[in-house]
Amino acid sequence: MKQTDYLIFGSGVAGLTFAIKIATHFPNKNVTIITKSNEEESNTKYAQGGIAVVLNQIEDNFQKHINDTLICGDGLCKKEVVEMVVKEGPKCVQELIGWGAQFDKNETGSFDLGKEGGHSNHRVIHHKDQTGFEIERAILKQAHLQKNITILDFHFGLELILENNKCIGATVLNEKNNEISTVFANQTLLATGGIGQIYGHTTNPEVATGDGIAMAIRAKANVKDMEFIQFHPTALYNPELKSTFLISEAVRGFGAILRDKNGKRFMLDYDERGELASRDIVSQSIEKELKNSGEDCIYLDCTHLEINAFKKHFPMIYERCKDFNIFIEKDWIPVIPAQHYLCGGIEVDTYGKTSIENLFACGECSYTGLHGANRLASNSLLEALVYSDRIFEYLKINSKFSFENKLHYNDINQEKNQFDVVDDYSEIRTKLQSLMQQNVGIVRNNNDLNETLKKLLILQNDMKILESKNHISKELYELKNMIDVSILIVNQSILRTENFGNFYKV
Ligand code: SIN
Repeated sequence: MKQTDYLIFGSGVAGLTFAIKIATHFPNKNVTIITKSNEEESNTKYAQGGIAVVLNQIEDNFQKHINDTLICGDGLCKKEVVEMVVKEGPKCVQELIGWGAQFDKNETGSFDLGKEGGHSNHRVIHHKDQTGFEIERAILKQAHLQKNITILDFHFGLELILENNKCIGATVLNEKNNEISTVFANQTLLATGGIGQIYGHTTNPEVATGDGIAMAIRAKANVKDMEFIQFHPTALYNPELKSTFLISEAVRGFGAILRDKNGKRFMLDYDERGELASRDIVSQSIEKELKNSGEDCIYLDCTHLEINAFKKHFPMIYERCKDFNIFIEKDWIPVIPAQHYLCGGIEVDTYGKTSIENLFACGECSYTGLHGANRLASNSLLEALVYSDRIFEYLKINSKFSFENKLHYNDINQEKNQFDVVDDYSEIRTKLQSLMQQNVGIVRNNNDLNETLKKLLILQNDMKILESKNHISKELYELKNMIDVSILIVNQSILRTENFGNFYKV
């Protein structure tokens, strides 16, 4: 049994920036970060594009960024949240730069701003095509400087512990020795990122199994807008690849063109912004093209672009394509849409507070109202930075430090973990992924959704049986979480009767 003042699940940009701020402000208080893999493994690390932010108001301005976000969100954004995030963003980005994160500059010394779908201006600061990697590097370094931050890697959050709708901590599995312990906390933050693995075909890393959202669902927190799943239009098409590789939208911002196999540039038939229409429109258009043609993929043509400049901006994409024998200067890149981002999540107010007292959520696992029905490209790191700052500002004043009434809890499930390990859940996981991929993708319908729901409820029941017989492991819990999250996505998809943004039901 452990106690900590601040308990954080997730070591991406949301969890780490909050940790750094609160630990600096309260040097005598403990901050514990639980992360299920190694400490740098998170959705953040894989963000290629960058951070959308208005750093100078000469060519760009807040109002344009606000309008682009609202248009992209297709009428479902919370306007006050959009205004707040856009206006508070620059301060948070400057802080990140102060912590050592480096962003590309042009010859004049100003930021080299990229452009992505749905943006009316160049406004995306980036570090080549590895922005997330650079941010994670810088903030981890800062976190290590704080003596009162403990990062427990290879630890997995199982369940939140509640007392009278107040979160007082969580149960945590130590993956290295299989021990389950109770961690009491004054304040708990869920910053566990996305859900991509429930689809299998996703740009998200292996760790994206919706763990924080599932914990929140089981704790009965409000979880909203789960039907709004963003599909990125251009993931590298290679049926043999287990994990999908993203071809950043910034490549289209740089001038790449989408073509069908005959070379036809089709995006202008769907939207006058062509390849730089918002992601919902581009993905839905590709889906239609593929359905009509019966082909497996479409192509991204970069052959007309200046190759040295391309390599300078997108070194990782260039090299990765080369590994697959795709030479960008002469070959078109085969691409298809893949699950990329969840616009909904654990509902929070403007200070990141959930419907459960002392429980906060930040980053992709949260629903703030910024993204509405479709997230504007590169707005997610911005949202995580602004909300982790707002949670910090709130807790700077409102933190309560008391562990009273909590010590009667015994460590739970210790005996349970004596069972033999039967750790192969891959069959159920694959079944879940193909169900979600086939029936809960870019275009949905109620018949398939209802059938999927029935099958998911059976899987959920199978998991209960497995859980009662098996040793608690990360693999078991991930699958349980993925099923719980999938059920909510399907239920909320059935309930939604009107199409907006990336939700399209026929
Ligand atoms: C990309 O680089 O295309 C992804 C950026 C984002 O999802 O915001």
